[in-house]
Amino acid sequence: MSGLDVTVFPHDFAWGAATAAYQIEGGWDMDGRGPSIWDTFCHAKGRVFEDHTGDVACNSYQLWEEDLKCIRQLGLTHYRLSISWSRLLPDGTTNHVNPKGVAYYNKVIDDLIAGGVTPMITLYHMDLPQALQDLGGWSSKEIADIFESYARFCFKTFGDRVKLWITVNEPYVCAKLGHEDGIFAPGIKNPGISVYLAGHNMLRAHTKAWHTYNAHFRPLQAGQVSLALNSDWVEALDPGSSKDAAASERYKAFTLDWFACPVFCTGDYSETMRARIETRSFDLGYKQGSRLPRFTKDEPSPLGTADFFALNYYTSRKVKDLNGDSKKNELSFEGDQGAEGVVDPSWPICGVHWLAVVPDGLRKLLKYIKDTYTSLPIYITENGFSQMGPVQIEDTDRSQFYKDTLQEVGKAISQDRVNVKGYFAWSLLDNFEWSDGYSVRFGLFHVDFSTPDLKRTIYRSGRDYAAVISKHRSQTKPKNI
Ligand code: GAL
Repeated sequence: MSGLDVTVFPHDFAWGAATAAYQIEGGWDMDGRGPSIWDTFCHAKGRVFEDHTGDVACNSYQLWEEDLKCIRQLGLTHYRLSISWSRLLPDGTTNHVNPKGVAYYNKVIDDLIAGGVTPMITLYHMDLPQALQDLGGWSSKEIADIFESYARFCFKTFGDRVKLWITVNEPYVCAKLGHEDGIFAPGIKNPGISVYLAGHNMLRAHTKAWHTYNAHFRPLQAGQVSLALNSDWVEALDPGSSKDAAASERYKAFTLDWFACPVFCTGDYSETMRARIETRSFDLGYKQGSRLPRFTKDEPSPLGTADFFALNYYTSRKVKDLNGDSKKNELSFEGDQGAEGVVDPSWPICGVHWLAVVPDGLRKLLKYIKDTYTSLPIYITENGFSQMGPVQIEDTDRSQFYKDTLQEVGKAISQDRVNVKGYFAWSLLDNFEWSDGYSVRFGLFHVDFSTPDLKRTIYRSGRDYAAVISKHRSQTKPKNI
């Protein structure tokens, strides 16, 4: 990544990498961990590529010190990890705490801090305790209070050292892929209904956790809490078509706005989203009340429940109108959205089919967030490039991708005046990539899953990322007076 101007990044810029518990930890039934919905999903055959599972994954549960070496080799200032809820609380509730789970995360946190690395912790990254799924999971109203107790437990146990928290990672993906399409755990296919309920309860859960932190922990711990929202950058497929322009607005309304509007703008879902769902419910003869739930006055408002904006950006889409499509008469999220995102043929695809490489989409999205939602600091909590097929340790294309992307982030900071506080590459390690199993590799380190020691080897992109971090740190080190 030589040639990248690192001086545009502020001196305290967070240089990070991210992982998630189920994708790296393994140890699925070790030391008292309870099962999560991803254990159940993977163990039922035919759902994940070649029936891969996260049973062992990178075995970070036992090989944490190897991960720590990788983190140090990169020179990261920050590391984003998630807690496996069912490792800490095997049945999901604070009725039963697993001391070995507490000890594991204590060690991870302490080791990071001792090495000068700031932890950012995600409380929920797709892996609900199975015991809670059995009670209705994200579709049940009670889940928000149970999540709040879990969050409170984590703030109390780790918050003396952890100052950056993410409550829920990508509520859009959990709700849509897990409760509409059924291709992620818990594998529910209940189109046009469960998706909104799950999303709503995730927002309620986040809101309660943020308020608990704000009232009871912030005064002593002085940390920050947010939720990580994923979004593509989108534009109308045909810039001259008013239908595509409207479709592009609807696409946003049903993705980023879905969660950002309640938290950053109004305390409620956007008018576009609400009106579309209500009209279509009526038109399709759906009579069981609103499919998009309402926030009620007896609960705290989601408005203002983020201390920073956490953005996961991977790709961009051109959007076309779908109102005349076959989905028109179907009760479904896509029918409600009435829009389809397509890949521009000029964009290269990296590895997995959905990942078109569009670094300047990130710059546009950052500016859009600043102009539309908030002037709070933004952390890019995930961004990355995948590899499939034969392993290429000399992954020059991924290295180029990181350089191009960081250049765009630099322009967002220096030219668009967006307050970007940090960047987390996805991912530290090759890991369990959900329904794609181990066939898709996002790591800065390669993990050899065919050997028992799961050897980590740095990719060229990892070496180049380390060089950027080191250059930035040496150029912007505050001078001793
Ligand atoms: C995100 C997710 C990560 C990771 C990444 C790459 O949606 O938060 O866990 O899998 O996508 O696909």
